[in-house]
Amino acid sequence: MAQIAPSILAADFTRLGEEIADCDRLGVDLLHLDIMDGHFVPNISFGPAVVQTIDRTTEKFLDVHLMLSEPEKYFEPFKKAGADLITFHIETHPNPEACVKQLRALNVATGISLNPDKKAELVLPYLHLFDYLLVMSVFPGFGGQSFIESSLDTVRIAREHITKNKLQTKIEVDGGVDSGNADRVVEAGADILVMGTAFFKAADRSKLVKETQAL
Ligand code: DX5
Ligand code: ZN
Repeated sequence: MAQIAPSILAADFTRLGEEIADCDRLGVDLLHLDIMDGHFVPNISFGPAVVQTIDRTTEKFLDVHLMLSEPEKYFEPFKKAGADLITFHIETHPNPEACVKQLRALNVATGISLNPDKKAELVLPYLHLFDYLLVMSVFPGFGGQSFIESSLDTVRIAREHITKNKLQTKIEVDGGVDSGNADRVVEAGADILVMGTAFFKAADRSKLVKETQAL
């Protein structure tokens, strides 16, 4: 059974409260919040104040994806804002142990992400430290991009490693995931599917949630 994490980046921000209420009503599993600094990625999104507002309106698990050059500077502000999971990129911290320690001290779940041009082997030695692996299936920075097929290899390799080593790490896939590829992403070994455009622009959100959770 797969989980669905709508990415708020694709929501209608003029009606953010209603969009979140809709996520609650439809029983999505977690909310994915994309934080961009205009430096690690060529775009800027929102910060802790918006995360705090979202946290006040929902009980949902808040999955905060930091696309920041210096994520460690913001671990505490995002935890204070209500993050349940904080994910940073291996590209910014090839030796991520110190960051994991900081996150554990804050009592927040840990996630590590890697871009589509990176080999799974880059993160495997550290996977046991993390609660979540976020496999990027687009180059981060923007919603609405096309799914990059080669990311499925990363998912398969990570799944094999997790099974073989009996790890608890969950695999989340982010970027261009929709009803047309969700089954293949789950078959490759994903536990959680992030859907921005596919969820918020869906003609029938309820059907999408049910079908995804049934995978
Ligand atoms: C990309 C973000 C994604 C994005 C997903 O930089 O990390 O979470 O919002 O959006 P879609 O599902 O539209 O590709
Ligand atoms: Zn994301």
